Amino acid sequence: KNIVILISGGGSNMAAIVREAQRGNWRETLDARVAAVISNRADAGGLALAREQKIAAEVVDHKGFESREAFDAALADAVDRHQPALVVLAGFMRILTPAFVGRYAGRLLNIHPSLLPAFPGLHTHRRAIEAGCRVAGATVHLVTPELDHGPILAQAAVPVLPGDSEETLAARVLTQEHLLYPRAIAGLLRTV
Ligand code: GRF
Repeated sequence: KNIVILISGGGSNMAAIVREAQRGNWRETLDARVAAVISNRADAGGLALAREQKIAAEVVDHKGFESREAFDAALADAVDRHQPALVVLAGFMRILTPAFVGRYAGRLLNIHPSLLPAFPGLHTHRRAIEAGCRVAGATVHLVTPELDHGPILAQAAVPVLPGDSEETLAARVLTQEHLLYPRAIAGLLRTV
């Protein structure tokens, strides 16, 4: 079962997934491998990490397309070349069209750094601190056309501590994301 991971940035979640996928039980029990990492930005740090692991790392630059539809069509072509069982968004910062989302219905997932349905969208950690939340966290969900609203597959919670800044809270949540996302993917791989 091939997994294609879409990134836009540092790719630490992608690296955590790759690490798990290289373990014996992903290969043997789940018959799963990360087939490719695709970024919409050529400067995404995660591309180098993927190449170090000998994983195909490709760029489909959204700036080269006149519309979201044209970009998504090119992205889908790149994704489909790897015949994925699952398409995994990991810090992928483009809104996807309903056509793209529909093409991978039930096998397209995302990680969002909040306890959804609280704080969809950007600046989740800042907003959680400003709201006085005592817990924050991350959510893995199936992607549907409405941003950050698909069915929830898994969540992890962390405390918001007195004196937390956006950065300290983000780091605490990110550590949990790296555990949560591979686990949620393994769960879904058993069903696809
Ligand atoms: C993560 O916090 C993810 O939840 C959010 O963007 C961040 C990406 O980090 N959507 P990385 O690129 O996986 O390091």
